[in-house]
Amino acid sequence: MARRRIIAGNWKMNKTPSEAVALCAELKDLVKNDAVDVVYCVPAIDIVPVAEAVKGTNVHVGAENFYIEDKGAFTGEISAPMLKEAGVEFVIIGHSERRDIFGENDILINAKVKKAFASGLTPILCCGESLALRKAGTYKEWIKRQIEWDLTDVTADQVKTLVIAYEPIWAIGTGETATADQAEEVCAMIRETIAEMYDAATAEAVRIQYGGSMNAGNAAELLSKPNIDGGLIGGASLKPDFGQIVNA
Ligand code: PGA
Repeated sequence: MARRRIIAGNWKMNKTPSEAVALCAELKDLVKNDAVDVVYCVPAIDIVPVAEAVKGTNVHVGAENFYIEDKGAFTGEISAPMLKEAGVEFVIIGHSERRDIFGENDILINAKVKKAFASGLTPILCCGESLALRKAGTYKEWIKRQIEWDLTDVTADQVKTLVIAYEPIWAIGTGETATADQAEEVCAMIRETIAEMYDAATAEAVRIQYGGSMNAGNAAELLSKPNIDGGLIGGASLKPDFGQIVNA
């Protein structure tokens, strides 16, 4: 069974609520494509207006983060039930900016993956190596470890619906994209890891994105690779270019 392509924008800490609504209007006709899942992962405060703005379109709403408890004394955090009620379907987990700037480790990331599934949210689980690990040649071992840690006690049925984003940290926001062959090498290795941890059917079903300076110019080549099922797009998701990536 062919995997359905999934193109997700990661807006990061960009766009006020009114700017977010304006961007939805700007992209509306450009992102139409019934063969592709299109997701806008937006800042928490933009979720409600964006969910309203994309009603009746093919766009799904995603969050960029959440916390593992349903409610309580967790100042500054947002919960899965809050996201669900607002219409969120996807949530980014383990982005390198969360890991590096906010100190999230694989124990928390694994807990978030399990909580997302338990709450009916689909995780977009990010993994990827630093430039140092790329240069040292140990990047594949590192990414395999991340996948094993982050999916501890996650079931095969859950992984079949999971989205994994391979994002080499050296390619994020730098304008330096991994070549299509470099991206495919790691995405294929991730799929093999899933086959080893689970089974062939699960590996065949899991969707794997590439992320890191994907843009209108390089998307088609990256997406032509057999193990790259989509993209997680930062900078270019804030521009009309995003429509070209959706339709690449
Ligand atoms: P970028 O970001 O497309 O701006 O490199 C990708 C990401 O961090 O998800």
